[in-house]
Amino acid sequence: MCSIGLIIVFRGIVYGNYKRVCYFTNWAQYRDGIGKYMANDIDPYLCTHVIYAFAKVVGNNIEPYEWNDINEWGKGQYEMIRDVRSKNPVLKILLAIGGWNHGSDNFTLMVATQSNIDAFASNSMTFLRANSFDGLDLDWEYPANRGSPPEDKQRFTQLVEQLRTKYDNEVLTSGRSRLLLTAAVAAGKSTIESAYEIEKIAKHLDFINLMSYDLFSDYNSVAQHNSPLYKSLAPNEAFNVNFAINMWLNEGTPKHKLILGIATYGRSFILRDTTQTGLGAPTMGAGTPGTFTKEKGFLSYYEKSLGG
Ligand SMILES: *[C@@H]1O[C@H](CO)[C@@H](O)[C@H](O)[C@H]1NC(C)=O
Repeated sequence: MCSIGLIIVFRGIVYGNYKRVCYFTNWAQYRDGIGKYMANDIDPYLCTHVIYAFAKVVGNNIEPYEWNDINEWGKGQYEMIRDVRSKNPVLKILLAIGGWNHGSDNFTLMVATQSNIDAFASNSMTFLRANSFDGLDLDWEYPANRGSPPEDKQRFTQLVEQLRTKYDNEVLTSGRSRLLLTAAVAAGKSTIESAYEIEKIAKHLDFINLMSYDLFSDYNSVAQHNSPLYKSLAPNEAFNVNFAINMWLNEGTPKHKLILGIATYGRSFILRDTTQTGLGAPTMGAGTPGTFTKEKGFLSYYEKSLGG
């Protein structure tokens, strides 16, 4: 009885703490001038958790994406983010695998059999420990979507369960702090329904990063917010932050585990008629790229479009 009581108190302390989770992207290094951002530019005290995005799944292994994630000739960005953590010992650094461009295919192959999942779970632990990360963030966009078959919904749960079991077991022999396990998840109703067994995964994940942005991305209809707080324009009413948060909560995510994703950028559009400029104004394509992010249809909070 005594030890059970202790565990609950322990979990209460650990999971009750406020979290400010930040993503670092390993391609921010390619921006020009003052837009260039490296892992050693991260403020060690701004966030409680920094998630390094992204690494990829290859076979049953994790592999780096960028030439200088691990750099044989100098300081790699994995090493830089470790340096940042050394300035703030309570900061946790996690590695994210996947992302939008990674797609589903390699995840689907990896979760196809229990032995693949087992191998991946072990290999992930080796990779995270070798590079001194504090945990893993699963950024599969999305199970049972984008070429991934319907049964990947259940297989994603198996993956989460197996990873958590391995990470739990490792602690028994290593004496180290357990590796954290988190996931970045969809916020659109139909994607949520098809992709996740919410209650089951929420039980094993330390926290869940809700991608409550990019909810609207059609450049050839009307200008709309990509991350509206409440009801958006018809027929996209359910694509809003409030709806997504409530769906994840109602279906079994403990509140202290749910992290609201905030977009620090907007989508931009070319207007069909420059006299109509408000919400719902007709559009005819993605806006001019920004001076730093240089991607059509996106503007970060700190930039304006190349078009002025
Ligand atoms: C998927 O795995 C293949 C090897 O099987 C690899 O060449 C490819 O880069 C991986 N895809 C991604 C997006 O990482």
